[in-house]
Amino acid sequence: MQSSLGDLLTSRRVVITVGCGGVGKTTVAASLALAAARAGRRVLCLTIDPAKRLATSLGLREMRSEEQLVDRALWATETTPATGALTAMMLDVRHTFDELVGRYAQSPAARDRILQNRIYREVAGSLAGTPEYMAMEKLYALKDDGRYDLIILDTPPTSNALDFLDAPDKMIGAMDSPAIRAFVSAFERTGKLSFSLVSKAMEKVLSGLGTFTGIEFLTQVAEFLSDIQGLFGGFKDRATRVRETMMGRDVAFVLVTSPDPMAVGEAMFFLERLQTSGMNAEGLVVNRVRMADDVAPPSVDRVASLLADAKVEPSTDLAAAFTRAWRDASVWARRDAAEVSRARREMASIPRHIVVPAYENDVLDVSALERVANVLVPAR
Ligand SMILES: Nc1ncnc2c1ncn2[C@@H]1O[C@H](COP(=O)(O)OP(=O)(O)OP(=O)(O)O)[C@@H](O)[C@H]1O
Ligand SMILES: [Mg+2]
Repeated sequence: MQSSLGDLLTSRRVVITVGCGGVGKTTVAASLALAAARAGRRVLCLTIDPAKRLATSLGLREMRSEEQLVDRALWATETTPATGALTAMMLDVRHTFDELVGRYAQSPAARDRILQNRIYREVAGSLAGTPEYMAMEKLYALKDDGRYDLIILDTPPTSNALDFLDAPDKMIGAMDSPAIRAFVSAFERTGKLSFSLVSKAMEKVLSGLGTFTGIEFLTQVAEFLSDIQGLFGGFKDRATRVRETMMGRDVAFVLVTSPDPMAVGEAMFFLERLQTSGMNAEGLVVNRVRMADDVAPPSVDRVASLLADAKVEPSTDLAAAFTRAWRDASVWARRDAAEVSRARREMASIPRHIVVPAYENDVLDVSALERVANVLVPAR
């Protein structure tokens, strides 16, 4: 079992951080990007997270959907090879979807009709699975971009990590259901909508589209759905190719989890899904692990002197609270250690395991990213 992700940064084209919400995917992605740039790679960190703190930690005013070169002075050390470069970019779901429409629309006129359609503009970004699919789509488009040696993809904050794998099917499914097809063919037959038709098809179709009413809206829906049918063949082929790319040897998935028992359970489930889908789970990161202080519990005298240092009037209440807090901390640390062992055991098929401690503060600046990076890729 290796305890560094370093070799992935030099041997792969793409590293994707996956895991359930809030476990540290973005933090791990940004830290890996930093480590890779320092190792001399030209790395693109592609995120879907507009998080202000990520931008701040990279010295950027905000995450943008254009590529932004991170100031070398901020992250490079004296030993960083001149080739190293760090670029950050936020995924623009709508724009990526528009590009896809542009590529697969049956004619320029159909493309313009779709792009200008009010329904498309309302729903394109919010259909089920769309952000996840667009993240993979963007990655597919960028993967062979010669400007980068390595792309690190941070996946969206899905409450359910599995959405990521199901995304293409789900997104297409949302637009290509039998109810929608019936609706479209009725529309195409009559050229406009009769009310009996509307009432039959409407409920199902409109359930995902908000609460608009009125015949004008329905006409827009029908037009949109009719035009977009022409895209599905292209979308499906493309989704298949995107998925195949994700299975390549040069794409590594890094599974991130917290030591929370539920999160570990989800990570195990997710690993199974990755493996049955033929994706390469190459790294496991258990993040925010509360570590045991291996020193003995502080003596009463020691507590008294700590309180005196903090200019707090010593009292038995405070001393008791202090001891209690210390004991709680070690209880948590023992629980986390047990979960780390379980994660290691149950996910032993992943060849690299890393345990990142829980730091007192959020990861907010380059030095904090650096600290995480040094755990993910320890100096030899
Ligand atoms: N090891 C750590 N110690 C302390 N704080 C951490 C650590 N790792 C991450 N954090 C903090 O935890 C929060 C969540 O981390 P992060 O945004 O990376 O998670 P995420 O998995 O990307 O979340 P989401 O699913 O919402 O995108 C952030 O505030 C981050 O700074
Ligand atoms: Mg995130």
